[in-house]
Amino acid sequence: MDNPKRYLITSALPYANGLKHIGHLAGAYIPADIYVRYLRAQKRDVVFVCGSDEHGTAIPIQAAKEGTTPQAIIDKYHEAMKQDFADLSISFDIYHRTSSPLHHETAQAFFTKLNDAGELELKETEQYFDEAAKTFLADRYIKGTCPNCGSDRAYGDQCENCGKALSPEELINPISTLSGSKPIKKKTTHWYLPLGKHEEFLKKWILEEHKNDWRANVVGQCKGWIEGGLQSRAVTRDLDWGIKVPVQGADGKVLYVWFDAPIGYISATKQWAIDNDKDWRPYWEDKETKLVHFIGKDNIVFHCIIFPIMLKLHGNILPDNVPANEFLNLEGDKMSTSRNWKLEMRDYINDFVKKDNGGGQMVDALRYYLTSIAPETKDSEFTWKGFQTAYRSELSDVFGNFVNRTFVLMHKLCGGKVPVFHQDILDENDKTIIAEFENTKGSVQSALEYYHFRDGLFQVIELARKGNQYMQKKEPWIVAKQLTENPDAQKQIDNCIYICLQLCANLSILINPFLPNTAKKMLYMMKVVDKMLEWENAGKLNLLKTGYSLRSPEILFRKMEDSEIDAQIEKLKSGLTKETNKKVEEIKNTTAKSEIVYDDFAKLELKAGTVTACEKVEKADKLLKLEVDLGAEKRTIVSGIALRYKPEEMVGKQVVVVTNLAPRKMKGIESQGMILTAEDKDGTLQLLKPENLVAPGSNVS
Ligand code: 2FM
Ligand code: ZN
Repeated sequence: MDNPKRYLITSALPYANGLKHIGHLAGAYIPADIYVRYLRAQKRDVVFVCGSDEHGTAIPIQAAKEGTTPQAIIDKYHEAMKQDFADLSISFDIYHRTSSPLHHETAQAFFTKLNDAGELELKETEQYFDEAAKTFLADRYIKGTCPNCGSDRAYGDQCENCGKALSPEELINPISTLSGSKPIKKKTTHWYLPLGKHEEFLKKWILEEHKNDWRANVVGQCKGWIEGGLQSRAVTRDLDWGIKVPVQGADGKVLYVWFDAPIGYISATKQWAIDNDKDWRPYWEDKETKLVHFIGKDNIVFHCIIFPIMLKLHGNILPDNVPANEFLNLEGDKMSTSRNWKLEMRDYINDFVKKDNGGGQMVDALRYYLTSIAPETKDSEFTWKGFQTAYRSELSDVFGNFVNRTFVLMHKLCGGKVPVFHQDILDENDKTIIAEFENTKGSVQSALEYYHFRDGLFQVIELARKGNQYMQKKEPWIVAKQLTENPDAQKQIDNCIYICLQLCANLSILINPFLPNTAKKMLYMMKVVDKMLEWENAGKLNLLKTGYSLRSPEILFRKMEDSEIDAQIEKLKSGLTKETNKKVEEIKNTTAKSEIVYDDFAKLELKAGTVTACEKVEKADKLLKLEVDLGAEKRTIVSGIALRYKPEEMVGKQVVVVTNLAPRKMKGIESQGMILTAEDKDGTLQLLKPENLVAPGSNVS
């Protein structure tokens, strides 16, 4: 949309169930903040909203883990996340929360409008119910074996091991995580949003109208969803934590968290309007508003398919773009809370930002590195060494160095004042660098308009690099030695310093959206007010007036020691070790089952067998299909040992088989028994086998 009247920018509402890590920061918060700061510098009408997502099963699950109430959890993490964002200079206009009465009212009214208009369908289905806990089980409360990879770390919505999205019905041997019992199926009624009815709208809107201006990964994911056939989605749940369904007789039912959370963007805008005496409606109802959602790739379907359908039905505007980022890995591995392989914003703040005396240079250091490796088109990776290298060789050596040299030389060679600019003796080097002011402004601007934040930042650093090269060519410190024999010497020095100072002023404007603390420090050194950072000033050659005296240089980026970086790597690794030890403890604790008598054990038929053939099971990372010779017969057995054993090394090995277990289908293959294994602390399985070869079919007891 060209020249919109106003902008509404949103960053995904983080779940208030724990502190967030730098992957979140890089995905949905820093890019949005850069964009918003740029728009503000353009003096556009912009509102930047975010807040905590405080519903859904994630909250009571965390409360159970911490032995407290859901309310205590959201209060704690809402405040903590709000503080972390503020500490990292994320400049929301409002950081709201979905537990607020205003949000509850807004979400309920939204639901009612759609329901009254007949846009929702009421359906009765059978769902899992825990008789002991007397409650229907949300997907996350059901655990079982994954039909895809055989892992027992699969939940009713997703397998933790292979990542496959699941429905509770697909789990093998489901159990309730609330009571540990086997759930029964019970009838329940829910409201559904029939996505299929809107397929034509989505095809036209995304696959035609936005196929070129939305990121390829976003359009690609949407295409997959649309072409895969859009099923109706339940927008309510049987749960006691959430927003009550505003229909009589719907006791015990709440809105599905993904129905209420994006409406949180609207209620946040309403609260912002109340606080600032503004009207929220045009931001959500006027077609001349440009709505942009910044999110991570796991949120694409909700922001590009489900929420837009809701918005359309409700009579709101649709997003103009949804610049979703891919994921950020850490030191060669996926970030993971359960394995403690992550860098939380809070840890970075404590270890770097707090020691910074409020100057914000370490905030900007992180913003810099995360933007320079932003996972805009594919997953990318944070490494501590990479962080250190980018900090030293780009931020400090290129940007910081140029600004520092300029100020030092201005004090040394021009009496601490902005020198006179002598147009009459401009040479080619001067003209070339001056032309770069305008060029760079243009290229940074178009990078930002198209959400290419990495590229925009790169352009700014390039300009600083060119500034260094220019100074290197002009060598004003050498010219200063020729003052007696060269009548133009002082004029040449003046021009060089004048141009470099104006370049510093330009750099402060261009770097401001990315590194606001650095820009602020530069303003202080130049003794100018915030207004100079307005975007229209970029490209100008007279931002600092001749004769104006400037301050001494400040250190923009302090030294970064190897020891600081090594300590972080050590910390990350030791965190993982602690987690592994914890897991070993957990395994010890969870394997304690109740006592049985010998007769219970004697019900098992265990035999030794020899593997005669083995192959991988297609589309299952963990499963092998084995043919096992049991003396009198051969059996086909599917076993989850593929992470440890290759098919070819299995042939000839002896194994212990439970032979009287009822056959079970896994990945379409009937498994006629189970092989005994022991679980290693990393979760892989190793075989239990006779010490020496025995005849196939031998009894095991
Ligand atoms: O994935 C998440 O963390 C969700 N809490 C994001 C919600 S975004 C929006 F819809 F509110
Ligand atoms: Zn799986």
